[in-house]
Amino acid sequence: MSKQRIAVAVDGPAGAGKSSISKVVAKKLGYLYIDTGAMYRAVTWAVLQKGITPTDEAAVTALLPTLTLRLEPTDEAFTVFVNGDDVTEAIRSQAVNQAVSQIASIKAVRQFLVAQQRAMATSGGVILDGRDIGSVVLPKAELKIYLTASVDARAKRRWLETKDKETISLEDIKASVMARDEMDTNRKESPLVCVPEAIVVNSDNLTFDETVERMIQLITDAEK
Ligand code: DC
Repeated sequence: MSKQRIAVAVDGPAGAGKSSISKVVAKKLGYLYIDTGAMYRAVTWAVLQKGITPTDEAAVTALLPTLTLRLEPTDEAFTVFVNGDDVTEAIRSQAVNQAVSQIASIKAVRQFLVAQQRAMATSGGVILDGRDIGSVVLPKAELKIYLTASVDARAKRRWLETKDKETISLEDIKASVMARDEMDTNRKESPLVCVPEAIVVNSDNLTFDETVERMIQLITDAEK
């Protein structure tokens, strides 16, 4: 009998490798991968593009009903659309990096996106990554993984991924990773938490491929 494909929640701090790892794991297992951080980034992009101040919660909230987000899977990952505009690259800009934690702390934004995330996850055979997947979005997920690494390792990885290394130093990236940790962990709405039932994977001493293997093992063990 074939195994039951499950819902997998992957949470953890910025730069732990959640999305790059989850993407590969999902592809290998034929699961659907949903990067919920990309959805918060897409809303942030729209806020900035409209010239709205990210701390203006009323204006951000009023913008939400005008936004249609779409994640379209591709061979490599997925394309992100906001009202039909391809924002896949734009949501990784430093301007979005700096404003996204503020936008993600707004209750109306979270309600707007969590409803869409739950709707996308109904079919099973999904990996969602974010900060509140195991705690809020999919509290009944069959498997919860908390993927983490030290601040130094995470900053180094983000820096290596940054296209424009000349204009941003490793120190600046580290400061921004720490600032995001602080906001994501201490915010009132759905803070980043490691729920007790989550399996912690620390990737400090694991290579990319080893982390992928570990996650595949956890998922195949959890499939009934
Ligand atoms: O994973 P990421 O760095 O792309 O996430 C961008 C921001 O979105 C991050 O600062 C925290 C927020 N986020 C969140 O609050 N809840 C999620 N489920 C996913 C991301």
